[in-house]
Amino acid sequence: MDWGMANRMAQLIQPDGHCLFMPIDHGYFQGPTRKLEEPGNTLGPLLPYSDAVFVTRGVLRSAIDPAKTKPIILRVSGGTSMVGKDLANEGITTSIEEALRLNASAVGISIFVGTDYERESLLNLSKLVDEGERYGIPVMAVTAVGKELEKRDARYLGLCSRIAAELGARVVKTYWCEGFEKVVRGCPVPVVMAGGPQFDSELPVLEFVHDGMQKGAIGVNLGRNVWQNDHPVAMIKAIRAIVHENASAKEAYDIFTSVRNEKLALSRSR
Ligand code: 5RP
Repeated sequence: MDWGMANRMAQLIQPDGHCLFMPIDHGYFQGPTRKLEEPGNTLGPLLPYSDAVFVTRGVLRSAIDPAKTKPIILRVSGGTSMVGKDLANEGITTSIEEALRLNASAVGISIFVGTDYERESLLNLSKLVDEGERYGIPVMAVTAVGKELEKRDARYLGLCSRIAAELGARVVKTYWCEGFEKVVRGCPVPVVMAGGPQFDSELPVLEFVHDGMQKGAIGVNLGRNVWQNDHPVAMIKAIRAIVHENASAKEAYDIFTSVRNEKLALSRSR
């Protein structure tokens, strides 16, 4: 691996081999997602606990202070919306030159395996990998499921993850699922887990993050289950303890409740 590529990977993956990426890219197809209406305000308190931020160039320029940030994974695919015909019909929205100008540590792109746009999205990934490798910029492939959340099983996610790695992604972002070890075993590059829509409560999130880490994920790229929570800092601290301190789900939940209770006590005393 060339020095530039190795250096960028080291900015993302911490010395313990693990990572906590904070995605705030959802607006690129969802618009002003709940609790991400003002992305700079959402991100601010979470930044100290994030190893990198997954974001589009528009939000990066308008809402993130270049003097106070973390390594950037630039979302470079898009062109579709929640109300359009087909979420899978994405193209590359941002050039590699722009990624360099923005000093991105990596670029991220979605792939849509099994859809009408499978071929286009996989060729987009391949093209991006060609360009990224030329300039030493790693590509994170996002195994997107669009609105079909039921697709999140080990067979499908294993297929998507392996294809992404075969085409040259340096990191694959996929979902946790039952039998997650099969997804990791079949994917020769590091795997990070997304969360998907917000769960009803915190413990199941902490349990799947813990289970996924035990089964070989190197970390998370988990957004809504952090910043849509009423206590996002408590949630990110709990997840960070699992990712970087090998905490159990129960220990992480205790961290969540104690940070939340401290904050509630403080706001009552004011
Ligand atoms: C959305 C994405 C997100 O980065 C990814 O889904 C992680 O966020 P969440 O945990 O909210 O699902 O690719 O476009």
